[in-house]
Amino acid sequence: MKPFKAILASSLVVTSSAFLVLPFQSKPSPAPRLNDHNQSPIMNPGIQLPAAEDGPPSTAPPKGDVILSDVIGNQRGINVFASFTRDIGSVTSRLESAGLNTTVLAPVNSALSALPRKPWEDPEDYAKLGAEAYDGKSGENRANSNLKRFTEAHVVLASPWKEGEKVDRMEGGQVWWEKKDGKAYVQPGNIEVDSVVSKVANGEVWVLKGVLNYAS
Ligand SMILES: *[C@@H]1O[C@H](CO)[C@@H](O)[C@H](O)[C@H]1NC(C)=O
Repeated sequence: MKPFKAILASSLVVTSSAFLVLPFQSKPSPAPRLNDHNQSPIMNPGIQLPAAEDGPPSTAPPKGDVILSDVIGNQRGINVFASFTRDIGSVTSRLESAGLNTTVLAPVNSALSALPRKPWEDPEDYAKLGAEAYDGKSGENRANSNLKRFTEAHVVLASPWKEGEKVDRMEGGQVWWEKKDGKAYVQPGNIEVDSVVSKVANGEVWVLKGVLNYAS
């Protein structure tokens, strides 16, 4: 009986510690030690090791020939931003390009709904045109170009993306990310990375707890 219980207990320990290591907030919990013969997490097929130290932790192992446009809609927590990427042609094509790598910085739905204005609204439009700023065909075009700017501001033209590396966004302007207290923040703006939810052949999807600055 005892060996069985011991195995059960040790597999529980491994499971719960791996669980704690995976989400970004939980770092720095001690990572499972690979040189510990008795509790090597490799022995447990259900356990996903945290990502290499050069990126935020990830629950997503790289997948063969799957690309960003295949997976961007799969995460319920970012489905609002995912729908923007499908509405904006330039972003859709980028995510469909197998030969061009991209890091998508997708603000979580709650960050979008907390914005003081919709991503397709611009205070300057209201100042110039009043409450009808988005009425009719020209209003629709205006909203569309504002949404394009917002969405492209969250599309980083590189992947893999190393800590501290300044990279261009599709919308213009450079961003980088850094670790602080075990969490990752995109700069400028100090926007916390919640997690990396997809890693595919042409890039990664990172979930942000807020939105990045975009020109307006
Ligand atoms: C694109 O991403 C893949 C998967 O991470 C990587 O193997 C490849 O080196 C990247 N290519 C470029 C040009 O960064």
